[in-house]
This record gives sequence, C-alpha cells and structure tokens, in this order.
Amino acid sequence: MDVLTALSNKSDYSRNQLQLIVSAWIMSGLAEKKSKISLHDGDVSEDDYDKRSLYSLLYALYRSMGDVRDEHGQRYEFTFNTWGYTWPKSWGEAPDHQRDPQRFGRNAYSGLYHSDPVKAYVKARDGEVHIVEMGCGTGAGAHHVCSNVLPKCTYEAVDMQQAAIRTCERKFVPDLPGRLQATCSDATHLARPKDFADFVAVNETHVTELVGVVTEEDDRFFRKAHHMIKPGGFLVWGNAIPDPTWDACFKFLETLGFELVDETDVTEEAVRARDEDKARIDTYVDQCIEAFHGFKIPVLGAKKRAEADVALKNFARNPDTRLYLNMVERKDTYRVVALQKKR
Ligand SMILES: C[S@@+](CC[C@H](N)C(=O)[O-])C[C@H]1O[C@@H](n2cnc3c(N)ncnc32)[C@H](O)[C@@H]1O
Repeated sequence: MDVLTALSNKSDYSRNQLQLIVSAWIMSGLAEKKSKISLHDGDVSEDDYDKRSLYSLLYALYRSMGDVRDEHGQRYEFTFNTWGYTWPKSWGEAPDHQRDPQRFGRNAYSGLYHSDPVKAYVKARDGEVHIVEMGCGTGAGAHHVCSNVLPKCTYEAVDMQQAAIRTCERKFVPDLPGRLQATCSDATHLARPKDFADFVAVNETHVTELVGVVTEEDDRFFRKAHHMIKPGGFLVWGNAIPDPTWDACFKFLETLGFELVDETDVTEEAVRARDEDKARIDTYVDQCIEAFHGFKIPVLGAKKRAEADVALKNFARNPDTRLYLNMVERKDTYRVVALQKKR
C-alpha cells in the first residue's frame, strides 16, 4: 500500500479504514527497497506522490482525530491546512484572533482582503460580495472570512477532496445558513456562469508548484478564475511557491486580462509563523502517531513511525524540514497578491 499515490479523493475514510490503511503502509516496508520520504528533512519528490492521494489521507486523518490538544492543552479541531504567517507590521493592527491555535491560518485568510483596492471595492458594495474559493480544504478559512472578515458576503467553497468538503458541511455550513455553500469538485472543472463572482480566493491551493512555469493545470485553473470573476472584481491569492513561478504566473495572468494591483512578500512572517507554531505541530503529530496501532508493530512500526513523523512535519513546513528551509533560503517565497480583472 502506497499512501502517497493509492488513495482516492472521492473517499472519506473512516477511522477503522485508516487504521487498516496505515497498517498496510507499515507492512509494505518489508518489500520496500528505498523509502520515498527522506528521514533527514521529510522531503518527498514531486514524482513520488499524487496530491489527490496525499490530501485524501490528510483530511481523513484530521477528521478522524477530532478534537486534539495544542501545546497548552487548549482543545481544537485541526481544520486549517494552512501555513499562514504572522500579521505583517506594515498592515497595521493584527486581527483579534492571535491566541487561537490556528491563528496563522486565520491571518492568511484575513490577509487576502487587507489591501486598499480590495477594501474600496467591498465598501462600494456595502460588504455584499460573492466569493468563490478554489481549493478551500475543510472550509475553515471560508467560515473565518464569512464570520469575521466580510460578515455580509456569500461564499462558495470548492475543493476536490470529499473528506474536506464533508468536514465543511458538518462543521461550517450549518453555522452560516444561506451564506456558505460547499462544493466537491476539481475547481478547474467547475461549471459556473461568466462574470458572476466579485472575488475568487486562492489560499495555499496546491497548484503553481513547478519552478518557473505555468503548467497545463495552472493554465486551466487561472482561466476558470478569470471566467468567473466580474470585470472589476479580484483574484486574491496567497501562497508559498517557488520564487520564479510568481513572475511566470503574473505574465500569464496579464495575458488573460488581470492587472496586479497589490503585492506583499510575507516570507519572513511565514517563517516566523512556522517557528512559533512548532510546539503545536509537534504536539499534533505525536497525538496522530499515538492513535494508530500499526506503529506499535516491532521494528517496521518504528521505521515507519519515523517516516510518518518527519513527513507530517514537512507538510506543515515545521522548522528544519525541506519545505521550511525552502522558505528560509527563499527558494519558495510567500506572497499575498490581488489581481483585478480589467473592465
Ligand atoms: C495546502 S491545502 C490548502 C487548503 C485550504 N486552502 C487551507 O488553507 O486550509 C491545498 C488544497 O488545494 C486543493 N486543490 C489542489 N488542486 C485543486 C483543484 N484543481 N481543485 C480543487 N482543489 C484543489 C487540495 O485538495 C487541498 O485541499
């Protein structure tokens, strides 16, 4: 069983199914010549995983863990699949959720709407704007935006992962009747009218990952965003991606008819967030590993435990993992940008 490639984004695995999947993965270590996960820094090569399988595993894990403890014993459900950043000083006073265990994820979503052009657009519509998010994960950020950032907006949260959308339907949609809709779809396949959204939000969505190029999937992704946004509306986008990919994407977005109207580099703040979040992530990974019996299998259990530990920490860009070092070395830069669709 290769958990990095074999799972389906259409499934929402139960805790018992996950126990079996993890045990099968551990036993597969018997036949394995070389692990795909670097024990040194958690790195997994792009060719060695399929994002549909990876996120299927992660969202089923988050849901099956339910409420967990942070490093101070505070209980929360892990729903922001977001690295995020500390609130940049140049943006003024930080939003008032800075004691929340998932505050850096909340900052990332609040930050999408921080810029003056975006604020002016929202104000001119008395806050009544419609947002489509492409790659919403569990919808934790959608819920945060609807509740705390744009309390008069309506919001469609779209992700290709069934397990994540189920969490959104269970935990967030009922809290916002008629305002938040959760849709399970590859965002590039969405059939929506032209020019109907004020904003398309993209927050750490797993696209634009290849160095310096716009892939065929990225091309479809941005064309879909452009199709849905009203003239004068915005693509608001934040992520840590390979630094040369930003310019490749900006050039492509310009050809579609977008103008870059705001850009902040928050890489330093993103590194700081990972440093400050380390104790919470370590505590979370310990709780996950404890929950799966397969890791107690002699010898193989310990080997795969070490792999699971470093891989989960790398996905969270925990200090000293490959993805964290990519930000420190500025191979990946975290930017928050707003692009306006030309009228
Ligand atoms: C790192 S997670 C971020 C999730 C969420 N935005 C957050 O910040 O918590 C990346 C997400 O991108 C989603 N994704 C990647 N490509 C997608 C696509 N083509 N359509 C829909 N979702 C996609 C994945 O399923 C995953 O949920």
